[in-house]
Parts: sequence; C-alpha cells; structure tokens
Amino acid sequence: MAVSVSALPEPPTRPGNGHLQDWALSPLTLIEEGAARARAASGDLFRLRLGLPAVVGFSPAWNRALLSNLGTFRSAGSFSRVVPYLSGGVILSDAPGHAGRRGLMNPGFGRAHLLALQARTRAALPPVPAGEFDALAWADHAVLALLNAAYFSSEFDAALLHAFLAPLRRPFPVPALPRPLLFRRVEGEVRRLAHARLGRGGGDDLLSVLAPLPGGLEETRVSLAAAHDTTTHALAYAIWHLANHPRWHSPEHHPAVLKETLRLHPPGWMGSRRLGHDLLWNGVRLPRGALALYSPYLSGRDPGLWAQPETFDPGRWAHKPPAWAYLPFGGGERLCLGMHLAQLLILDTLAALPPLRAVGGDPTPQPGLTLGPRGPLVVAPVPAHA
Ligand code: HEM
Repeated sequence: MAVSVSALPEPPTRPGNGHLQDWALSPLTLIEEGAARARAASGDLFRLRLGLPAVVGFSPAWNRALLSNLGTFRSAGSFSRVVPYLSGGVILSDAPGHAGRRGLMNPGFGRAHLLALQARTRAALPPVPAGEFDALAWADHAVLALLNAAYFSSEFDAALLHAFLAPLRRPFPVPALPRPLLFRRVEGEVRRLAHARLGRGGGDDLLSVLAPLPGGLEETRVSLAAAHDTTTHALAYAIWHLANHPRWHSPEHHPAVLKETLRLHPPGWMGSRRLGHDLLWNGVRLPRGALALYSPYLSGRDPGLWAQPETFDPGRWAHKPPAWAYLPFGGGERLCLGMHLAQLLILDTLAALPPLRAVGGDPTPQPGLTLGPRGPLVVAPVPAHA
C-alpha cells in the first residue's frame, strides 16, 4: 500500500513555519540534515514544508528519473518561474516543445563553434593582478569580459552588462524583483547589436547564432543570466583550490581540478521541477503539483557514492564516478546549454594564471540563486624564485 508524503523523513521543523525559515537562512544545513535522516531510514527522499508539498531526492535513481522524464517532472512551475531573469526562453519551456528549441540552440554552444570563438575570448581575459587580489572579485570582472567577448564580440556596453547581472548575486528577494526598465535597456542593446550583425551579413559570436532563432533575443538575455554567476563562482572556487593545492596547478591537471571544484561547490546546488501527475516513488505517493527537487550538492557529497566526500582530491577523477551521481551541469535533455562554454572559459583562464598561494578569506559556501563563496578569496602570485 502506498503511503503519502507525510510518511517521509524530514529535517527538524520550527513551530509555525515548518522549514521556511531554515530554507531562507541556512538551506545547506537543512538539506544535509534531511539527507542524513533519509539515509538513516534507508531511503533517498525527504520532505520539506515550504508551504506546498516538496520533496528532495539525491540518489542516482532519483536524479535519473527527474532529469530524464520531462513529461512527469515539469519546469514550468519551478523556482526559475519566480526569478524574472530566468523566467523565459528554453529554461522554462517544457516537453514536447523543449527539445526542438534546444536543438536549434545547441550547435552554437557546441565545442566546434566555441573553438572558433576561442581566440577572441582569450584576448578578452583581463590581466592577472601583479600583487594580492580577491579571486572572487577578479573572477566576476573576468567572466563579464569573457561573456561579452563570446556573446557580443565585446561590443555590449560594459557598464550596462554589469548593472544587468549584479542583482543576481544579491540575497533573495533581490533577484526576484521585477526590473522592467533595466530589462528594456538590455533588450534595446541586444537588438541594436543584432541589427548590426544582420547589416554586415552575420558574424560568428553567440548573438549571431541566437538572434535569428525564434525568441532569440529573449534566449540571449536569459542564457546570459544563467551564465554569469555560475561561471564566476566556479572560476573563483577553482582559483582558490589551486592556490591551496598548488601541485595541481598545470593545464594537464586543470580538467580534474574543475571537476572536483564543481563536485564540492556546484553553483547550481539545487534544481526544481513540478510534478505533472501523481508519481509512486518507492511506495510513497507524490502528488501532482508537488515541488520535486534534486541537488548536485547533496549527490556530490554523498558518502555512499564518494570516498572521503569532503576532501578536495582531483586524483579521484582518474576513475569514472557512478552514473547520475555527478550533476553540476544537470543532465538529460536539459543538460546545461553553456557547459562547454563555461569549461572552455574557465580552463583557458586557469591556464593563464601564474603559480598562486592562498593569503586568506572566507570560502564558506553561500547558497543564493547560485552557490558561491562568501569571499573575499585573497590569493597572491608566487614569485618565480620562491
Ligand atoms: C560552471 C558554470 C555553469 C554551471 C555550474 C551551470 C549549471 C547548470 C545546471 C545545473 C543546469 C540545469 C538546471 C536544471 O536542470 O534544473 C543548467 C541549465 C542551463 N544553463 Fe547552465 N551552468 C553553467 C554555465 C552556463 C553558461 C555559461 C550558460 C550560457 C549559455 C548556461 C546556460 C544554461 C541554460 C540556458 C540552461 C537551461 C537549459 C535547459 O533547460 O534546456 N549555463 N546550468
């Protein structure tokens, strides 16, 4: 006999508001506690009381179901809906329309096309400071310049791009506030640059690829928002890990360093869907409309899936991890559109950095719209003779 969601384990609640307060103030502790209780009950799912039925799963089986079954796990009512920056384009489209839309966008974000942009993005990387610097602030600045180069051949008004993306970094509710004037200015700038490309018969930057597609200007705006903080936070943490573990600082090791960085600190720490119909999961009936969550953060640190999960060890990547355990870019049909772009930008940046040492700072993960370090992350170049 199937039981209802209320039979699932849950983290401790607070009288009156369930999990809402902890969800807002310390969500990582909350979900870690939920996962520990689910494991203790030999399960892979726990519930959260967020004002509507919500469940969080972290096993490979749950991840595969949520990411592969787009008919059941719908994006339309997910958390992205409440953030105007992410509320649109391919991010909110669902099966059956989603696949076609992605199919049109994928070639522009594939490896072959990105390699054609590489000379331009490499040239746009800001110089590395000669003395001590905050890797978080520098990564922020560098990623803005790199995205401007990849999307717009560095022709987008840099101050406007900064103003557009800065609120995403702030705690809730700032990213969820409507900004019609700012969005209109951004769309005007995107339109101006798109027309310039049409006038000169095309181009090879990402705007040239996206602009002719249906809804292409919206896709440009929404994907930029998805690109910036995620890539900034991944780059900042990668630099910090390299400064703390300098023996891994060489281009041959950087791919494993990036994988390990994203395992421990996945910027997309939690993904959400809504159930399109009732679903039976290991004897529990999950109701239509429930919020269904997966967490690259929990799966990447699950002691059942990883040896010494809290240890930074790029060497573990000599072996393949279990399928559906490592999901910093999601998976399935909705796999991150910018996965290759982010990897290319980050690996090129790491290759350009001198040997570094960590000076000090606060790498504590701060979960907001994306997961990033509290900062600063102060590092310094190591002199050649040191
Ligand atoms: C290290 C950097 C990045 C990380 C960790 C990351 C992470 C993710 C994750 C986890 C998802 C899946 C969300 C879900 O299933 O709920 C996703 C989707 C997406 N990402 Fe990224 N992302 C990164 C960089 C980028 C970049 C550079 C772009 C620029 C194009 C981008 C654009 C998108 C888009 C448009 C989607 C939605 C895809 C769809 O639903 O079909 N991301 N990303």
